[in-house]
Amino acid sequence: MTETTPPHSNGAGTRGDATQLRSNRWFGPDDLRSFGHRSRLKGMGFDDEDYLGKPVVAILNTWSDLNTCHSHFKQRVDEIKRGVLQAGGFPVEVPVMSLGEMLMKPTTMLYRNLLAMETEEVLRCHPIDAAILMGGCDKTVPAMIMGAISADIPSVFFPAGPMLKAYWKDQTLGSGTDAWKYWAERCAGNLCDSDWKGVENCIARSAGTCMTMGTASTMACIAEALGLTLPYASSIPAVVAEHSRLAVATGRMAVDLAWRNVTPRSILTRESFENAMATQLSLSGSTNAIVHMIAMAGRAGIKITLSDFDALSERVPVLANLRPSGTHLMEDFHQAGGLPGLLSQMRDLLHLNEKTINGMSIGEQIQNAEVIDFDVIRRRENPIWPTGGTCVLKGNLSPNGCVLKTVAADPKLHKHRGPAFVFENYDELKKRINTPDLEVTAESVIVLRSAGPIGAPGFPEWGMLPIPGKLLKQGVRDMVRISDARMSGTSYGTCILHISPESHLGGPLALVQTGDMIELDVSRRTLNLLVDESVLAERRAAWVPPSRTWERGYHQLFASHVTQAHEGCDFDFLHGHSSKQEPDIF
Ligand code: FES
Repeated sequence: MTETTPPHSNGAGTRGDATQLRSNRWFGPDDLRSFGHRSRLKGMGFDDEDYLGKPVVAILNTWSDLNTCHSHFKQRVDEIKRGVLQAGGFPVEVPVMSLGEMLMKPTTMLYRNLLAMETEEVLRCHPIDAAILMGGCDKTVPAMIMGAISADIPSVFFPAGPMLKAYWKDQTLGSGTDAWKYWAERCAGNLCDSDWKGVENCIARSAGTCMTMGTASTMACIAEALGLTLPYASSIPAVVAEHSRLAVATGRMAVDLAWRNVTPRSILTRESFENAMATQLSLSGSTNAIVHMIAMAGRAGIKITLSDFDALSERVPVLANLRPSGTHLMEDFHQAGGLPGLLSQMRDLLHLNEKTINGMSIGEQIQNAEVIDFDVIRRRENPIWPTGGTCVLKGNLSPNGCVLKTVAADPKLHKHRGPAFVFENYDELKKRINTPDLEVTAESVIVLRSAGPIGAPGFPEWGMLPIPGKLLKQGVRDMVRISDARMSGTSYGTCILHISPESHLGGPLALVQTGDMIELDVSRRTLNLLVDESVLAERRAAWVPPSRTWERGYHQLFASHVTQAHEGCDFDFLHGHSSKQEPDIF
């Protein structure tokens, strides 16, 4: 065999010692196991020249025919390989679980931790020097990053990119957000069959992720703010030539990362997660991102809390004018300057010295960033919302906290007191919400329980509880709604989410009865059930824990080990990372 000792160049000037590559521990030794590794690559048609002494770059691909957002990944993976080869690496494509929001039941959140485990173990057990994480649709982003942090192998995230803007008649459509909006009009009797079909035909215009500031776009921006992508990667539309060039450049970057051994944990710090939280707030991004950031930070051994998030919320304005909180879409955001443009408007709120994968600090990366359109990316003196666009509420209904996207809620409801109307579970809600004699008014507070991480199961996006049909017909378009669920990042309304502890575990939400008064006060950050503690104590004593129906397999593992919303919903045994990058025995 050819020895792998000579130093190699990545084509960009960085040189490394090939004996230090992780893959050399598979291919370098003169023993029987390594003979097997090499000979089987020969069997696949690869010569020594293809891979020996070169960084092995694994392209973790979440492509699937059932993931509508990643349908362009077959082409992108070839472009990424081109970049790896240009830089002198050996690209290998490794398929991993695909989590597509649109076609999976009950919810992709059930499987986020499974993909995180798969990512970690796939990276750990193979001869991989660097990884490219091809994700985009909501949970794929935190899942792959969580796994990569725990494996701590040099990694770069490659976002799928948002869909192109959609059009119907004279309207611009944003996926998710406008689906909810037009559905409400249909339920109110204002949208005929052919118009509804028209919206269905137009709302998803291309490959790519939801083009509003939903969870996918929020998480892509967070990945960029954490320094885990190339600059501007989070907003380049999925199907334009620039996205292909991003793929090639990401391939080259991965080879460079392998030589420099830049691992996720070598760049992620508490300060970089504070940058990520500030980014989420300035975008008025998805509330789901709060759960994911806590989980990702946990993998890096960094504890961030809802209180940290709320403290930042007191200082960070909403500067991105994007749906569902604003008016524009991701394509507009990219043209307006993308994430570097946005971050350039909030330098004083960032830790500018935090590292990114390309060797520059985040401050250096945004130094020359421009904002082209100040309606899409607002100046500090003209924000969409001054501060507190998303806030954390506490009180006797949610001792561990819950969240409200204030900027997406009707300001008239920010201070509200009303009687609860309780649904025991989502099935009951679906059956009854549109019954004409439902005893609700616009002042009612709709409560849904059994929708949390364990109770639902899987922590689904049911949190934008539908407005009862009879109220829609009266013109009501927002009311206070409370649950232990999440909601889609594309959703809006006065929806109080992530109540913790969840009702399934006997949290206070389990004790609410129809007619109880509930008080929300955003200015004081409180949510309270106005029922005497003595009455609540009686109800608590009489409460019967629901039976668990998950008896086997992954579902049983999930129910036994998932943590609550305020803890990030990671598995309790996956916090942090293992001390070794690969098994002892080769
Ligand atoms: Fe994939 Fe919205 S459905 S990002």
